[in-house]
Amino acid sequence: MLALCSDHAGFELKSIIEGYLEANSIPYKDFGTYSTESCDYPDFAHPCALAVESGECYPGIAICGTGNGIAMTLNKHQGIRAALCWQPELARLAREHNDANILVLPGRFIEPSVALECVSVFLNTAFAGGRHQRRLDKMPVK
Ligand code: RB5
Repeated sequence: MLALCSDHAGFELKSIIEGYLEANSIPYKDFGTYSTESCDYPDFAHPCALAVESGECYPGIAICGTGNGIAMTLNKHQGIRAALCWQPELARLAREHNDANILVLPGRFIEPSVALECVSVFLNTAFAGGRHQRRLDKMPVK
């Protein structure tokens, strides 16, 4: 099951992505927020990250206005590799090279159609492994 989260600035795009997931029979869990009322992205990013880290959900999609705040928060979790993407090629490389487990989108700076392309590519690209695995192994702070 896929995990979704956003703040108020990502709420509308999150709703559009939910429609896409439902149309494609992809199950998801929505960790909020649930309206455009102003809120703080860490309140939603941490539960979403914990669900992906624990294996309850995989992968995740997270959205805030720029994507930066929510990505920074998600990446505080050792088991999370959250990738900020604003075009499909970045989403492809985030999976292929970085084995990203959360796609982060900048809700205020991306057209919904481009965001959905990013989602589709992210969900349909596999990790390439090999030399990229060696680099992932060096990521954690020792
Ligand atoms: C909210 O106004 C905005 O700061 C937030 O969505 C995000 O862009 C932060 O990184």
